[in-house]
Amino acid sequence: MKFFVDTADTEEIRDLAATGLVDGVTTNPSLVAKSGRKFLDVVQEICGIVDGPVSAEVTATDHETMLKEGKKLAGLAPNIAVKVPLTPDGLKTCKALSDAGTMVNVTLCFSPGQAILAAKAGATFISPFVGRLDDISTDGMQLIADICQIYNQYEQFETEVLVASIRHPIHLTEAAKMGADVATLPPGVLRQLYKHPLTDAGLAAFLADWEKTGQSILDD
Ligand code: G3P
Repeated sequence: MKFFVDTADTEEIRDLAATGLVDGVTTNPSLVAKSGRKFLDVVQEICGIVDGPVSAEVTATDHETMLKEGKKLAGLAPNIAVKVPLTPDGLKTCKALSDAGTMVNVTLCFSPGQAILAAKAGATFISPFVGRLDDISTDGMQLIADICQIYNQYEQFETEVLVASIRHPIHLTEAAKMGADVATLPPGVLRQLYKHPLTDAGLAAFLADWEKTGQSILDD
């Protein structure tokens, strides 16, 4: 399973990239706005921090302008994945960019039918938003299960399932059980994955017992 970090905060990306566990980054207009920085600058900086795919979203809604924006974004760096919304114009743009060899992340997916359209449009990634479905009392993880089941039926569907809108570690582990290809994690959720009270207690006990031996690995 690939881990992407879901943020436009370059300091967070640098910090988490140092773990060696970050395979890419996803951004969206809201995350870019939150960064307070110029979109093209922050995306270009992110592309220099990680080698993996960096999703940068178009903001036009008509195909002609989406395509122009997508080509400009793709020209920023070789690891750009152009993000387009799951709309008729978005998928038309996805097809054109994908046919030209550009990575495309189709976002704002909320149904299995939408995911089938994205795969047929040649999407590199499909981003189903599990958290936003949970937020309206709909089972977001059921969408992931349905998409994985459908995609597994057709060899020609090469689109990777990129689980997005993740709210907590259980979304991640459940997605992994289903065989999702990628999870894009808010920085805080990635950090939560490390934590368990028994790990902390066990380490403290090991170190306390080691202290009693008076030994040192490096000095002995
Ligand atoms: O990548 C999509 C993700 O940023 C959306 O998450 O929390 O706004 O639903 P959220």
